This record gives sequence, structure tokens and C-alpha cells, in this order.
Amino acid sequence: MSVRIRGLRRSFGDHEVLRGVDLEATPSTVLALLGHNGAGKTTLIRVVATLLAPHGGSVTVAGHDVLREPGRVRASLSLTGQFAAVDDELTGRENLELAGRLAHLGRRGARLRGEELLERFGLADAAGRRVRGYSGGMRRRLDLAMGLVGRPSVLVLDEPTTGLDPTSRESLWDSVRDLAAEGATVLLTTQYLPEADRLADRVAVLRDGRIVADGRPADLKAQVGGTRLDLEFADPLRRARAATALGLPVPDASDAALPVPSDGSGADLHRLLAVLEDARAVPDRLSTHRPDLDDVFRVLAISRPVPAGAA
Ligand SMILES: Nc1ncnc2c1ncn2[C@@H]1O[C@H](COP(=O)(O)OP(=O)(O)OP(=O)(O)O)[C@@H](O)[C@H]1O
Ligand SMILES: [Mg+2]
Repeated sequence: MSVRIRGLRRSFGDHEVLRGVDLEATPSTVLALLGHNGAGKTTLIRVVATLLAPHGGSVTVAGHDVLREPGRVRASLSLTGQFAAVDDELTGRENLELAGRLAHLGRRGARLRGEELLERFGLADAAGRRVRGYSGGMRRRLDLAMGLVGRPSVLVLDEPTTGLDPTSRESLWDSVRDLAAEGATVLLTTQYLPEADRLADRVAVLRDGRIVADGRPADLKAQVGGTRLDLEFADPLRRARAATALGLPVPDASDAALPVPSDGSGADLHRLLAVLEDARAVPDRLSTHRPDLDDVFRVLAISRPVPAGAA
């Protein structure tokens, strides 16, 4: 039930957006695709969901090729916001029951599944109201619930929590995690890095039309560097003395903090402060910085120079 992408290419006119993407999403896993605006995340999602034809390479969903068996691909996946057609004139409950009937759950099955999803997405209180009166976030949650009625084995979500308040975001994360725990393959895109950190088992970074990093969030964070200490000095001379004593380049005058690689342990801190004390360069303040996905994103998605001949 995996999503398997091999050498995927896709252009718009002479703009080659995807230049050979290799990526695989597997069951019981949440895979988050990161990339800057315009990197091609939505394009990739649309190809996977058969809404856009690939120009090269191959894409299969649950073993079905998107070009040769689009119907089977669509039957095994759910894409939020695209296939779910919410009817404004119906209530939330009626919408879900209708979706359940369309998914061949039968009258009783559709009603039970609908109640379960209303509960899960915090829509039980609003279930009897027409969708026309729903807020943006409620509509989005209903939209996601609609996509889940038929228990898809592959779930594809393009920026699912954009525009959701923190509570709704949490409940969406819970639902997505539950689905993965039940065996679903989840592929989602996000601009929101803490989301990838919290939710994803794996993170892939799309840049210049290719996947430039793919791994567990913890591994990617380790890859961009370990913990560091930021030392702050009001006096630039003292800061320069500290840098020299630690064998580090003296930071620009405009740079307030002096970043020092450290494992963050008490012993390391002790050693560091002893060196600084000897150099009469004790910092005014000091803070620990652990790498987060923001660092991964900055390093891998944006600032890394394009290797010659990579285009
Ligand atoms: N239908 C289209 N016709 C022409 N160009 C397109 C089309 N769809 C996307 N593009 C271009 O392809 C590139 C990738 O767009 P895409 O929407 O996939 O990016 P994205 O990573 O999803 O960005 P965002 O983070 O802003 O959602 C952009 O340069 C965009 O302008
Ligand atoms: Mg997009």
C-alpha cells in the first residue's frame, strides 16, 4: 500500500519543476514533504493523486501506476480538499452519511462511521447545523473527515493544518497519527516545521526539483549539527577575546552572540567557562540551542549552494 515515486519529472512549459524525484511512503508511517514556496510540493501531490500526469519516471500507489490505472489509484487514496465535495446546504452529519453511502458502507454503516468521525474531529456539537454556517476551520475538519469515511489506505494531505487554530491542529495531528497507527500510509506537505517535527516519522526535503534529504527528523537534525551554546557579550572586545581563546573565528561586530559547538553537558560547560575565565572573557549571558527542523530547512532547503552540473 505504499506510494512509490521513481525518477519523477514534471514541467510546466519550459519550467522543469520536478527533475527526477525519488521518494517512497510506506504503511504505518507519516512522511512529511518540506520545501520552500514553489519547490513543487503541490505538483508532486497532484501527480500522486492522478490530477496531473507525470512527464517522466514512474509513480505507483498501492502497486497501481498513476498513468495506467488511475481509477485504482483514486480508489485507494484520499486527498484532502480535492475529492471531498462538501455540500453547503447539508449538515455536517448529512455530508458524512452521504459520503459513507457513496463509499458503499450501507445506511447503518455510513451513520456509524459518520458519528465516529464527527466525534474524532470535534464536530459532534455542530453535526446538525448546515455547513454554510461553519467556520473555515470547521469546514476544513469536515473536509478531512469526508476523505476518511472510506478508510483509505493511503492518505495524501497538502498543507492540512494551514489556517487551523492550535486546538484544531492538535486534533488533526492526533487523527493523522491514529490513522498511521492503524496502518495507513500518510504523505503530507507542510510549511510548518514544528508540525513535521511532531507528526512525521520521516521528513523529505524537496529542493531544485529533487529530494535533497530524507530521514527521521532526529537524524536530519543531527546532520545539520549538534547542540551549540550562544554566548552573549555586551563588550565586543571581550567577545573577540572569548572567540580567540576558544579557537573560533571572531564574529562580525553586528553579530551579538558567539556560537560555540558543545554537547550541552555540564562537564563541557564547566570546561568552557574555565577557558573563558582564564581569558577574562566570561559571557554576560549564555543559552543552549538545539537544532530543530528550522535549521534543517535553512541548511538543506535554502542555503546550500547548488553543486555544479546538478541542474
Ligand atoms: N498549472 C500550472 N501552470 C504553470 N505553472 C505551474 C502550475 N502549477 C504549478 N506551477 C509552477 O510550478 C512551481 C511549483 O509549484 P507548486 O505549487 O508545486 O509549489 P509548492 O511547493 O506547492 O509551493 P507552496 O509552498 O507555495 O504551496 C511553481 O513555480 C509554480 O508556479
Ligand atoms: Mg503547495
